[in-house]
Parts: sequence; structure tokens; C-alpha cells
Amino acid sequence: MEKILITGASGQLGVVLTKALQKKYGIQNVIASDISISDNYDGVFEILDATNFDAVNYCISKNKITQVYHLVAILSAKGESNPLNTWNINMNTLFNVFESSRLNGVKKVFYPSSIAVFGEDIEYINTPQFPNLTPLTVYGMSKAAGENWANYYYKKYGLDIRSVRYPGVIGYQSLPGGGTTDYAVSIYHNAVKNERFDCFLEPSTTLPMIFMEDAIRATLELMAAPKENIKVRTSYNLSGMSFSPMQIYESIKKINPDFKITYTPDFRQEIANSWPKSIDDSQAREDWGWQPKYNLDTMSAEMMKNLKKYYNLVSV
Ligand code: SER
Repeated sequence: MEKILITGASGQLGVVLTKALQKKYGIQNVIASDISISDNYDGVFEILDATNFDAVNYCISKNKITQVYHLVAILSAKGESNPLNTWNINMNTLFNVFESSRLNGVKKVFYPSSIAVFGEDIEYINTPQFPNLTPLTVYGMSKAAGENWANYYYKKYGLDIRSVRYPGVIGYQSLPGGGTTDYAVSIYHNAVKNERFDCFLEPSTTLPMIFMEDAIRATLELMAAPKENIKVRTSYNLSGMSFSPMQIYESIKKINPDFKITYTPDFRQEIANSWPKSIDDSQAREDWGWQPKYNLDTMSAEMMKNLKKYYNLVSV
């Protein structure tokens, strides 16, 4: 029987991944953890400061955890306001989770990486699986280092750590915090409320993105794949779709023709400029059968429909 621990369970991905794991493994077998509990949480929750090794180790051993999903991280934009703190939190939590997983015989660990590992001098279109990683942000540096630590723990100790480089994740169930791709979630909230959206990126800034449902399915499929299929032990490139603020605006306008947008680029523009426009994820497709389902318009339809329900703009 599997016993699952999720760190960072109150975050954008954590909220949705926790529900998916509860559905798969049973509500009692999934322990969600974070430094604070999310609203209306349903299930087993532990307040856990993942920067504290003893607390992580105790939680894993006491609960006889077999799989850990380590989602704690400070993201790209927020991370730049305090670089050393970002590095310390992102790396110390990783060491605590990897090391206590090794010591307690955890069977599998999921470690999310990001398109933020890429930086200057990459091929921006169809960025390949194994380019030089020269990230511009501390978040990206911590993820690039984390990927190498994942590979190290696998090679040295046999700890089965699996990882994908998530594009910007877009979902209606939760809000992101502190990322450069966050605009692509906020824009839908404004659109359903019919409020003008002021975008912090320029209209033509194309970035790789993925709909939440695809991101969760990718995670579950990667973790369920036979061990011998997992050939990349740093992190897999993962692709959903690619679009710019102008294109997402046009997609939303097909549903809400009155919607208005303005552009006020800020420091996040430079971060976005250093990231790929699209991703070559052929290795993930070959090794564990990855295939995204959503494109920009099908995602817009789902986002608008579900956010309208959320804001009680239509009857449920
Ligand atoms: N969504 C993240 C960010 O913008 C990228 O992984 O920081």
C-alpha cells in the first residue's frame, strides 16, 4: 500500500495534485503538508516546515511514507527580491526531502523542475532536452542544481527520483504566486469579471505553457511509468502549448468580445526573454508516452467556464 507525502501542498500545483493523488491512492493515504493549511482542505494535513530536516524526517518515518511529491519552492519573480533566501529555501528543502527519503527507504520521489532552468544562448524554438543550462534567476539556478542532485541521488543511492520541467501552469482551481508565467492565470480572472487586464509582459512574448489537467496527468503518468523506461534522471522537457499575451487575449475575446487588455512590462520581461518559446519534449513522448490534450482555445473554454462558476456568474 502506498503512503504519499506532498510538500508545498497549499501551492498552485499542490492543491490540485493532492486531490488527484487522493483519488488515486485513497484520502487516508495522502498526507498534504505545508507551512499553512489551504482553505476548505479535505483530508489529512500536517503543518510541516520543510526547511527543518528533523521535522521532515520525522514526518516521513512516522507515517511510513513510500512516495514524496516535493513541491516547495520560491518561484522565478518573487525569488529575485531576496536571492540568498530563495536559494536557501529551495535547496535546503530539497536536501531535507532527498536525504530523509533515502534514509527511510522511500520508493519514489517527484521533484518538479521548470523551464526556468534554461537561459541565455539556448535555441529558443523547440529547446532541446540537453542544452547548456545558464539560468538567469535564482529559482532557475536552484532547479538546475536540483536536477543534478536528483540524478546524483539516483546514481549514487538508487533513490528513484523523477522530474519534469513544467512550463507555466494554468488552472482555475488555485492561484499561482510569484511566477513569471502567472499573468496567464490572472488574465482569465479579469476576463470573467469583465475587468481590463494590465499585462506585465509585452504582447509578443511567447512562452511554453500547460493546462493544469495536462500537468497533473503528466506527473501521474511519469510516476506510474516502469522504472526502466525512465532514461532521463535529471528532468524531462515537457510541452503543452505555446502562446503570447496577444494570442491568449485573442483566444479569450472569442468568448468575451468586450474584454480589454493593456501592457505595462516590468522586470519580469527580462526573465521571460531568457526562457524558451517552445520545448522539444520528444524524449518524454518516447520514454513514457507523454501527449498533451489541451491547446489554447480548449484551455480558454475550460478556464472561462469554471471561473464563471467560481465567481457565481452562472448557476452551477
Ligand atoms: N511558472 C514558473 C515561474 O513563472 C516557471 O516554472 O516562475
